[in-house]
Amino acid sequence: MKAKKLTGEKAVEYVEDGMIIGLGTGSTAYYAIKKVGEMVRNGFKIKAVPTSKETAKLAAEEGIDLVELADVESLDLTIDGADEVDPYFNLIKGGGGALLREKIVASATEKLIIVVDESKLVNHLGAFHLPVELTPFSWQYTQRMIEKFNCSSKIRKIDGEIYLTDNGNYILDCDFVKIEDPLKISLELNKLPGVVENGIFAEMAELIVVGYNDDHIEVLDNE
Ligand code: A5P
Repeated sequence: MKAKKLTGEKAVEYVEDGMIIGLGTGSTAYYAIKKVGEMVRNGFKIKAVPTSKETAKLAAEEGIDLVELADVESLDLTIDGADEVDPYFNLIKGGGGALLREKIVASATEKLIIVVDESKLVNHLGAFHLPVELTPFSWQYTQRMIEKFNCSSKIRKIDGEIYLTDNGNYILDCDFVKIEDPLKISLELNKLPGVVENGIFAEMAELIVVGYNDDHIEVLDNE
C-alpha cells in the first residue's frame, strides 16, 4: 500500500503546469490522480484524459479538467499502473479491465510513465493471466481461436455474471504460463476477428517508477 502511494506520487513530479496528461486506472494510478488533484487546487492548469469511467469519476471529484482524446493533438505524458513489468519494459495490463482505453491513451502519449510496486517486476510475462478484450458476439469462437496459441482461458465474471468493460465488451483471461515473445503474441492476437485488444503493452513504456516496501523508489528509464 505504502509502495503504491510512493510510486504514484513520485510519477506526478514529471507533470508540469499547462500539460495535457493521460490518467491511468487502478489502485496505484489512484495516488497519482489524487496528487494531480492537489496540484490543480494549488493553481496548476492541467487537462486530462481518463482511461476508464472509474478514473473519470475520481478525477472529476478531484476537480481535474477532463477532455476527450478527440479534442487534443497528443498527450504530454500518461501515468498508469501495470500488472506485470519485464526487464525489457514489456507490460501486462488490464487486471482492472481498462486495457483498451489504456492502450489508446498510451498510444497518444509522448511519455508513458508506469507506476508499480516491486511485486509487479517479473523476469518473463505470463504468470499474471493476460486479459484480452473480446466482442460479445460469438466470444466462445474467438476463445477457441485464442486457445490455439497454446493457452488456457476463462471468461471474466463478477458475482457469477460476465464482466462488461466500459466499452460493452468481455474480457478473456488467458494463461500462457510464460510469454516468450510479447510483441509477437500481441500482434498475432490482435489479428483475430473478435479480439478488440489485448493487455500486452510492448515498446510503449518510457519510464517505470518502482516503489519498494522498504520505502525506496527506483526510476527505470528505457533509453
Ligand atoms: C487496469 O485495467 C489495469 O491495467 C491496471 O493499470 C493494472 O491492473 C494495475 O492496477 P493496480 O495498480 O491496482 O495493481
